[in-house]
Amino acid sequence: MNSSSSNSEASPARPALVLDGVTVQYDTVKALSDVSIAFEEGRIHAVVGQNGAGKTTFARVCSGLVKPTHGRVHIGKHEIRTGHVNAARAAGVELVHQSFALPASFTVAQAMEFGATRHSGLFTRRQLEARWQAHLDGLGLSVSPREVIRNLPIETQQGIEIARALVTDARVLILDEPTAVLAPAGVETLFERIRILKKRGVTVVLILHKIREMMAIADTVSVLRRGEHVTGPVPCASIGAAELSQWIMGDAKAPVQAAAAPPRAAEGLTAPTVLRMHKFSTQPDAEGAALNEVSLDVRAGEIIGIAGVEGNGQRTLVRAISALAGTASGTLEFGGKDMTHSDLATRRAAGLRIIPFERNVEGLSLNSSLWENWSTGRLLQGGLLSFVRPKKLQAECDVALAQWDVRYANCGQPAGSLSGGNAQKVIFAREVDDSARLIIAAQPTRGLDIGATAYVWKALRQARDRGAAIILISSDLDELFDISDRVLVMLRGQVVGEYGAPYDLRQVGQAMVGAHA
Ligand SMILES: Nc1ncnc2c1ncn2[C@@H]1O[C@H](COP(=O)(O)OP(=O)(O)OP(=O)(O)O)[C@@H](O)[C@H]1O
Ligand SMILES: [Mg+2]
Repeated sequence: MNSSSSNSEASPARPALVLDGVTVQYDTVKALSDVSIAFEEGRIHAVVGQNGAGKTTFARVCSGLVKPTHGRVHIGKHEIRTGHVNAARAAGVELVHQSFALPASFTVAQAMEFGATRHSGLFTRRQLEARWQAHLDGLGLSVSPREVIRNLPIETQQGIEIARALVTDARVLILDEPTAVLAPAGVETLFERIRILKKRGVTVVLILHKIREMMAIADTVSVLRRGEHVTGPVPCASIGAAELSQWIMGDAKAPVQAAAAPPRAAEGLTAPTVLRMHKFSTQPDAEGAALNEVSLDVRAGEIIGIAGVEGNGQRTLVRAISALAGTASGTLEFGGKDMTHSDLATRRAAGLRIIPFERNVEGLSLNSSLWENWSTGRLLQGGLLSFVRPKKLQAECDVALAQWDVRYANCGQPAGSLSGGNAQKVIFAREVDDSARLIIAAQPTRGLDIGATAYVWKALRQARDRGAAIILISSDLDELFDISDRVLVMLRGQVVGEYGAPYDLRQVGQAMVGAHA
């Protein structure tokens, strides 16, 4: 567990990063409200809070991306010019964004050089590669500088992003929800890297949602709620999960645990099949394992969980069902009709709904308003002609977003101005509706706070109980076991196992790595 031995977080002896009365006002929303906080040098500091609490804004202020309306930022002993990335960088602060994006076609060495503006001079390629190799090795990254980014697993890409941030000898590294893109094994690797940094004296600020993760890695925790600084940094060792939830949620109702799902097996056998894939194979494409003769039946009123180590065809499965992956052979029936060659619009009209992996890229148009984003679904689902009445759609949008407790100022604001978790809820509000017949939910709770996570589980169960078929893809086995009626395991583009409740963690885990009988 954590190795905190400090008892003086309230007034750190050697502050590495200090915010003093920082307020960030966006139109009517105060993203941060008079926040004063000081982080001690050389430790791991978690920052937690609900979706929309102001965590990303906080990270962006520290790294110079956002200029606060009021307030000051000190790095070490020096006050920095706020709102200037170069000033923050020169003072040793680096931010790894949640939606990090290394150029996919670059080699690792090229990506590293991208951040290495401080090293001037003439070097041979071999010298540069040797230097990057040493730098990567030092962070426990076993990757050759010649590898192409696109071919690397997501946790390695993230490791490289961190390595790149540290090329300039950053003293303060801020990571915005670094675990949201990682499978559990990747989280462990990330934490190992972070511990290496701590040993080198780097101050790490980690934005997280999962209390379990926070307890495993952080020395201190600080809580933001609705833009206000509630507490911290306090030593993690001194607080309990219940107390922490209370700080995070405030007066908001604690998430209600939905009733345990009744087994569906008996009635499931007679319910109509909504999706049937028969020996379905896709063309190889650059974005992950191709499907190899996948046969799959999903019935109305059941939740099928898809387990698997990331990169084993889960993304391709979503793309195939969404008509976005090239079919090589096999058939796909949806709602009893052959739809092997139908397009996405046809499938949507028949009741297909998708909560995609890459929500910011595939799920929302960030420059369009919330109501436009929300109503796109309706328009696509309608008949040949749709009569668009913005006022009516806006009113309906407000009702739908309220159900999901989306925090926003007005439904005319662009989707890009929402916090990560709230943007995700807009997608749910659009996709999980009464007309959904098949919902594919890819990592639906990543990046959501505890309240929103409980709500998602409840909503998926309710949709199932209304008769929708649901495919839940998750790398969180607890989540899969909790709400799935059956769990299938994917490995190298194939379905290699099927399991029913009560689930055996070992059995499923072995199937995931191909070690099952
Ligand atoms: N550019 C912007 N324009 C308008 N409002 C914004 C902008 N950026 C953030 N906000 C608002 O500021 C508030 C805080 O957002 P922020 O992204 O900091 O939250 P967060 O704690 O990171 O949430 P999450 O866990 O969902 O990522 C939200 O209400 C958000 O809608
Ligand atoms: Mg955020």
